Amino acid sequence: MGCKITGCGKALPDLTVTNDDLSRVVDTSDEWIVERTGIRERHIAVAETSTDLASRAGAQALERANVSAGDVDLLICMTITPDTVVPSQASMVKARLGLANAVAFDLNAACAGCVYGMEVAANMMEASALAHRDGDAPLRISQGNDMRTALVIGVDRLSRITDWTDRSTCVLFGDGAGAVVLEWDEAAPGILSGFLQNTDDPTLALACAQLRDLGTFPFGDATLDSPGAIMAASLDEVPEELDQGIHPFITMQGQKIFKWASKAMADAVRVVCERAGVPIDEVSLIVPHQANERIISFSAKKLKVPMERIQVSIGTVGNTSASSVLMALADAYEAGRVHEGDNVVLVGFGGGLTLGAILFVA
Ligand code: UT7
Repeated sequence: MGCKITGCGKALPDLTVTNDDLSRVVDTSDEWIVERTGIRERHIAVAETSTDLASRAGAQALERANVSAGDVDLLICMTITPDTVVPSQASMVKARLGLANAVAFDLNAACAGCVYGMEVAANMMEASALAHRDGDAPLRISQGNDMRTALVIGVDRLSRITDWTDRSTCVLFGDGAGAVVLEWDEAAPGILSGFLQNTDDPTLALACAQLRDLGTFPFGDATLDSPGAIMAASLDEVPEELDQGIHPFITMQGQKIFKWASKAMADAVRVVCERAGVPIDEVSLIVPHQANERIISFSAKKLKVPMERIQVSIGTVGNTSASSVLMALADAYEAGRVHEGDNVVLVGFGGGLTLGAILFVA
């Protein structure tokens, strides 16, 4: 309670790639992609970095929330494709946006990123509020940082880690960034409930090894199995690069993920409704991770929620990973689909396997 969403933003790269464009480089068709996924086109960053996209989305969210850069206490960037590992993506965005007073760090929860980032930010803000409440002793002596305003950004350029010769994955993904400003307001209901859950993925149904071997380490022989070898052990057909432990691309067992996600999404929505004491009929809008329009409609059927109460943005952006839910939320606000006092559910799922949902009052 008290953690209010006060602004949303999104940023897309300039280049649009249509299904017809892709059908000229891999054996696919507009018909197949639209029918199986709902995707018609996606944006690909050839001229923009993750820092560019994240900063644009973040700046828009701050402007809409009417929050100045110096007032941001916390910045969390959710990404699996940061421009650099060190400094973190959040550090790069902090510098670009001039968030002089923000504590900044990255988190990786793959496509469920935005929801994980918001849940972590909300919990840090609530702990800070409790620590500063009159008469209440701080829970920990070190609970020093004031966290009244947070910026959570999901950014991914999956085009960097997509195998553009693999039709089973390359038609799905797009690049972009989504952002949200959270402000602490004791009087506002704000985020009523949250739910995070990780399910093991022993066959690595969704993975990206991105390996850097200790090739120049001068002592001893490497005896540990590389992540590439671990991945290879669970695949029927082992690509040559994986065998060598250098596979840099996303691999996915689509049907396995589809089956899990269709059930998981509905389960997560039910849990946050129960925890908040809000019947599902009183949820005005569900904003899900945009991985596949069929996953969204299966889950809607399971929940007995009409599609009019679900945000579907996938058609023009594809699956944008950690940015997906917040980009879709920005679309919903822009389309006038979110009104003050509405109950809104965000739900994300992805590699890991990660699953998360949040119910907030707009
Ligand atoms: O964000 C993280 C979470 N990710 C997801 O939630 C993704 C979940 N999975 C999916 O969305 C779907 O499984 C896909 C969209 C990836 C695939 O759809 P599908 O209906 O499960 O197709 P499939 O993998 O069963 O493939 C059916 C056929 C195969 O051909 P055969 O073996 O039946 O001859 C594939 O080779 O479609 C073929 N195929 C394609 N054909 C044309 C696979 N990709 C393509 C393509 N174009 N791009």
